Amino acid sequence: MSKILKILNLIFCIVIRTAHLSQMAGTMRAVQFQTGGLEKMKIGEVPIPVLRKKEILIKVYASAINRADTLQRKGAYPPPAGESDILGLEAVGTVDKLGPDCSQKWNIGDRVMALLAGGGNAEFVACREECLMPIPKKMSFTIAAAIPEVWLTAYQLLHTVGGVKAGDTVLIHAGGSGVGTAATQLSVLAKAKPLVTAGSIEKIDMAKSLGAVAGFNYKEGDFSLGVKQYTKDVGVNLILDCIGESFYNQNIESIANDGTWVVYGLLGGGKINADLLSKLLRKRITITGTTLRVRPIEYKESLVQNFTQNALPYFESGRLKPIIDKIFPLEQIGNAHQLMEENKNTGKIVLKIREEDGRDEL
Ligand SMILES: NC(=O)c1ccc[n+]([C@@H]2O[C@H](COP(=O)([O-])OP(=O)(O)OC[C@H]3O[C@@H](n4cnc5c(N)ncnc54)[C@H](OP(=O)(O)O)[C@@H]3O)[C@@H](O)[C@H]2O)c1
Ligand SMILES: *[C@@H]1O[C@H](CO)[C@@H](O)[C@H](O)[C@H]1NC(C)=O
Repeated sequence: MSKILKILNLIFCIVIRTAHLSQMAGTMRAVQFQTGGLEKMKIGEVPIPVLRKKEILIKVYASAINRADTLQRKGAYPPPAGESDILGLEAVGTVDKLGPDCSQKWNIGDRVMALLAGGGNAEFVACREECLMPIPKKMSFTIAAAIPEVWLTAYQLLHTVGGVKAGDTVLIHAGGSGVGTAATQLSVLAKAKPLVTAGSIEKIDMAKSLGAVAGFNYKEGDFSLGVKQYTKDVGVNLILDCIGESFYNQNIESIANDGTWVVYGLLGGGKINADLLSKLLRKRITITGTTLRVRPIEYKESLVQNFTQNALPYFESGRLKPIIDKIFPLEQIGNAHQLMEENKNTGKIVLKIREEDGRDEL
């Protein structure tokens, strides 16, 4: 008799415990995909992430799209080892839970922006506490979602890698892109002079409204002629290049002696069949490549801290502003990817993940 009771008790305990565990772990809506076209993406139910050391769980209100997501969807850009395979390099929301070994830096309910290696297109995401930034005062979640990835990238290109100085001329390609609209404003903040290239007059006008001193439509001719004219044949001190191959000749013509050329994307291809080294030698050019997602966590934390200190305050004063092209609900992620792949956006494409419920609002 007592044996039967013991067994019943054991079964009861297991049932209760499993129910409790599944409630604790819980599930969330997230973008899932199989390698391929837009139709391969769908919204599914997946487990809420389990927090590792120094990680914080964010209740996500908004996220955004990056070129890396469209590449990842096509199978050309897998997530770094050990990171979430859910799409999304950034998210904003509120602090929901602190993981093991977290400091006192963040409190439950704080409104934060997160730089991620993946996982942002979901209702919850885990982020290292040092890769979080406070959302500028009075800024909504959907606007703040346009900040982390492209602004940190632009800051890195100009300051950490490009070593921009006051008075420098900076040639920024894809001037209407998420990164380009941020880099233009950060150049002005650094007292440098941004020149941009873009494929439409609308994108060039936007860049000029953000402080670009000149803009060239690369579809209408050789931009290096315009660059030479503006710089009185000196050339630009710094090039932020996400195009590569198709702009190579014009970049070589556009860069000044002792100039720095930062390659951070290859939208126009990666192969060059040209006399690169002799040009590099004669003009004393520094060419350098950079990435962000796969960098060590300590580097990203340092970048986030520097940006928080040196750039973030200017969003509150209005000197810097995130540029947003369109906001889609999470369910329309396919349309969001398509818009980006058609090169139609000026600035960021944002995803709204959940309704603001009043409590977490501004
Ligand atoms: N290395 C890093 O750390 C890092 C980090 C973030 C992003 N990125 C890279 O930065 C770039 C911009 O990202 P984003 O998310 O800001 O992009 P985005 O908003 O999607 O804008 C990209 C724009 O580039 C232009 N473009 C596309 N193909 C082109 C070509 N073949 N020649 C000339 N222009 C072309 C298009 O505008 P037009 O109308 O002007 O043609 C397009 O709208 C991407 O290459 C991305 O992979 C690199
Ligand atoms: C952050 O700033 C410090 C101090 O200027 C610098 O040493 C460090 O390299 C910067 N880190 C990044 C990633 O820019």
